[in-house]
Amino acid sequence: MRSFIASALLSVLAATAHAAPSNTTQATASDSSCREVTIPVTVSVPRFIINTTIANDWDAVTLALNLTQRDVNTTADPLPISGKTSGPVNSTYQIGATVCGSGGPTLVLTHGIIESKLYWRPNFPGSLKYSFVDAAVAQGYSVLSYDRIGVASSAGTVDPLTDAQFQVETAVLSALTQYARNSMGATQVALIGHSYGSYISAAAASDVEASGAIDAVVLTGFSGTVQYFAPFVAGAALRVARTQNATRWGNLASSYLMSADRFALAYVYFAGDFNRTVADWTFEVEAEPFALGELPSLLDTPVAFDQVTAPVLVLQGRHDVSACGGDCVGLLNATAALFTSSKGVQTVDDLPAGHDLNLHEVAPQAFQMVFDFLKAQGV
Ligand SMILES: *[C@@H]1O[C@H](CO)[C@@H](O)[C@H](O)[C@H]1NC(C)=O
Ligand SMILES: *[C@@H]1O[C@H](CO)[C@@H](O)[C@H](O)[C@H]1NC(C)=O
Ligand SMILES: *[C@@H]1O[C@H](CO)[C@@H](O)[C@H](O)[C@H]1NC(C)=O
Ligand SMILES: *[C@@H]1O[C@H](CO)[C@@H](O)[C@H](O)[C@H]1NC(C)=O
Ligand SMILES: *[C@@H]1O[C@H](CO)[C@@H](O)[C@H](O)[C@H]1NC(C)=O
Ligand SMILES: *[C@@H]1O[C@H](CO)[C@@H](O)[C@H](O)[C@H]1NC(C)=O
Ligand SMILES: *[C@@H]1O[C@H](CO)[C@@H](O)[C@H](O)[C@H]1NC(C)=O
Ligand SMILES: *[C@@H]1O[C@H](CO)[C@@H](O)[C@H](O)[C@H]1NC(C)=O
Repeated sequence: MRSFIASALLSVLAATAHAAPSNTTQATASDSSCREVTIPVTVSVPRFIINTTIANDWDAVTLALNLTQRDVNTTADPLPISGKTSGPVNSTYQIGATVCGSGGPTLVLTHGIIESKLYWRPNFPGSLKYSFVDAAVAQGYSVLSYDRIGVASSAGTVDPLTDAQFQVETAVLSALTQYARNSMGATQVALIGHSYGSYISAAAASDVEASGAIDAVVLTGFSGTVQYFAPFVAGAALRVARTQNATRWGNLASSYLMSADRFALAYVYFAGDFNRTVADWTFEVEAEPFALGELPSLLDTPVAFDQVTAPVLVLQGRHDVSACGGDCVGLLNATAALFTSSKGVQTVDDLPAGHDLNLHEVAPQAFQMVFDFLKAQGV
């Protein structure tokens, strides 16, 4: 359980509403087939009772110390969870999504923390090479990319303690896979995750009853271990989002957190071969706050990696801080070993990138590796 937290926190991604591309070349690939939609999703799952809260930046600093200190795994320093609700809690969320294509093989994309769905489809001039969505559409896939609950177009009135929890977000993804089949005409469904979104994707794929049969899983910003959680949590320099930028986040509760500045975000998300202008855009536009409840709920949820039967690709930037402590080479054999029921696991541990793989120079080659993997699985 604890072992999942590191990667989860590490690989957070979020996105804001998709802006119109100003580059006409960029607009051709998928604008014709992509549209912004709102999908109501009802979930019914138990909730953790989180017994801490963040009122100000002093609390945010204390949280970071609590989650990174040496004895974090001991009962003397337990997770800020005092129990679980006695039964399922029902909620309906309005999910903001980008939907492209019209059925057939469909890719469902889940971003990480301190990220948004813009991760999968950047909106700055000249960003086409970084757009996984456009690359996928160009290869004939349909795509469903969404903001996780509490983020950007899915912010709504999501409570950062009682709603924004790992098992709730997994149930949301399961519901979206059903939406892909029933409303988009998907004939096959592949789950593609980044960071926290990779944990969610693996958890949804492990639950065939809720998600239906999943045809392939691609995990990025992920190694399946929480071992490198501390440099991520400390390095991200977490602050209360609403006081970081009242214009953007003044309506969010104080338990939504954001990185202090672009350099803190760059430390956890960028390394190797990247363009600093793209890292600037990531901080200024793509990055969105995450909710306090997301961390302890992930740490306290055992993800059944051993029940994922779909083929799995783990695709890593070598220099990923949160997943690998800055060097993934040699670490992913242990990751592959988690998926004991998978039809086949492939790993790539050495792309010249940090955690935000899609936003590095190697993105086009990384995307092609994903499509080659999917096609080899018949997706
Ligand atoms: C906490 O436990 C996890 C899983 O057992 C382990 O990977 C991690 O290294 C431990 N962390 C510390 C600080 O001991
Ligand atoms: C950090 O841990 C201390 C000691 O358990 C606790 O009193 C405090 O509420 C925690 N703070 C946060 C923000 O989790
Ligand atoms: C939260 O609840 C747990 C379990 O009851 C307890 O051990 C822990 O000290 C509590 N933490 C805080 C910050 O109140
Ligand atoms: C939650 O929804 C289920 C159906 O999905 C229903 O059977 C149940 O009564 C609901 N619970 C509450 C507390 O509303
Ligand atoms: C538009 O994007 C394409 C592909 O990235 C690039 O080749 C071209 O130079 C860009 N044009 C402008 C005006 O930015
Ligand atoms: C806050 O966000 C707005 C809107 O994105 C932006 O124009 C402004 O520069 C930001 N302010 C700071 C202090 O970052
Ligand atoms: C970095 O990205 C910016 C924005 O897309 C672009 O104008 C610039 O040419 C890029 N620099 C390099 C060296 O690729
Ligand atoms: C990982 O597995 C590959 C192929 O099975 C093997 O060549 C390599 O030595 C392994 N690396 C480690 C660190 O165990």
